[in-house]
Amino acid sequence: MQNKSTMTAFPERGASRADVLAALTDHRAKDLKSDGQAFAFVYDAGEELRELAREAFASCMGINGLDPTVYPSARKIENGVVSACLELMHAPEGAVGTATAGGTESVLLAVKAARDFARKTRPEIKQPKMLLPETAHACFHKAAHYFGVDVVVVDVDEQFRASVADVKAKFNDDVILIVGSAPSYAHGVVDPIAALADFAKEKGVLMHVDACVGGCVLPFMRENGESIEAFDFELPGVTSISMDLHKYGFAPKGISIVLQRNRQLRAAQYYACANWSGYAIVNATTLGSKSVAAMGAAYALLHHLGREGYRAKVRSMWDATKLLVQRIDDTDGVELVARPDTNLFAFRTTDGDVFELADRLTECGWHVQPTYAFGRSPAHIHLTIDPGNAGRAGAFADDLTKCLRDLPAPIEPPAGVVAMLSQLGETEVDPEMLMEQLGIKDGQLPHRAADIHRLINAAPPDVRQQLLILFIGELFS
Ligand SMILES: Cc1ncc(COP(=O)(O)O)c(C=O)c1O
Repeated sequence: MQNKSTMTAFPERGASRADVLAALTDHRAKDLKSDGQAFAFVYDAGEELRELAREAFASCMGINGLDPTVYPSARKIENGVVSACLELMHAPEGAVGTATAGGTESVLLAVKAARDFARKTRPEIKQPKMLLPETAHACFHKAAHYFGVDVVVVDVDEQFRASVADVKAKFNDDVILIVGSAPSYAHGVVDPIAALADFAKEKGVLMHVDACVGGCVLPFMRENGESIEAFDFELPGVTSISMDLHKYGFAPKGISIVLQRNRQLRAAQYYACANWSGYAIVNATTLGSKSVAAMGAAYALLHHLGREGYRAKVRSMWDATKLLVQRIDDTDGVELVARPDTNLFAFRTTDGDVFELADRLTECGWHVQPTYAFGRSPAHIHLTIDPGNAGRAGAFADDLTKCLRDLPAPIEPPAGVVAMLSQLGETEVDPEMLMEQLGIKDGQLPHRAADIHRLINAAPPDVRQQLLILFIGELFS
């Protein structure tokens, strides 16, 4: 391949197959590995299933999900996957669903459907609102932003579950949707879905359950004998559910499912356009042409693993979670932020610097997710357990104990830089200079990132948002 310095962005002459593949391998060198050391981002069920997913993905690569009349396989595969999810979620007769590209898209579509359904059935509402627990995933705020729905933030209790009392207090005639998580990402706790769904039904509004994380976990925990309260269509007030197959379905990225209790609701999610001179458009999701490859992989995994296979994976993840929770309970200097209902959770330091602890864990070879303080939730370290890291839970806990030795007390970030950050948005800043000051080079956080995390943690959420936008703008051409 051409020498990097002489390589042009769009080469005149093509390189060999081996060279272009080698270039991609090279680009991937610093990526997070699925090697059992990652406690965030990775949902990996092992090489054998990865291999199956790869083959299934490749076999479906040429399918365009834009038009199922031309690609009947797109319809067959989607119906297969959606039916399995409907069954898992105790869907009643008449319930339907759609495959989407991810949890965010499933949530976007649930909110869009709620808005358009309200436009049709409750035209008196001029400015629709949704009641959203403080712990709900950020993609609901994105959906609100995209579709012009106001967010009314709902308080959570000391265990980070949505407060039903606050939902009742904040309810008004403009509310079109109530949201609950099963579970929330940060703390792994399930909201009081039954009480929220009862209230939604009583008021005649829609209720979305975000089971992006729990959809492929909670049903199998229940089948394994854990006591899991109803959170899905078993509850008559639940009108839609999102569940990600690219998380605990173990499929590659690009596949989630949104389920609706009936066809009328799903019709409000669809979009059709005949107002142009080209082919007639009807889209079930936000995309036009779309890949079906990840859906094909999900189909293969779901049928290959079966309920039995998922039960075994879920059991190993839950055992590892219990082990880690116990070790955190037994270790001085750390505590759970909330007691998790599922296999992901947050823990904090009681007297040491949490970001220094995260750096030390990174130096031991672990990938963890340092998370900033927001609302009731303190700065913490988030852990997501998957079948890949489950077997390493004991080793992680041993390193955690080591890393806590002589951990310094919480360190204040430099006041001058905090003050500079607080002016973001008011004064013009040179993003390149700012990144340099923060120690971010080539879009890569330094190996020790505690200084940066402390600064961002000290900034209010709107400043954090502006900083993130500057940061991502610096990453891409
Ligand atoms: C509870 C929950 N909902 C929605 C999402 C968004 O999913 P995605 O990243 O697939 O868009 C996530 C992602 O972690 C999540 O945890």
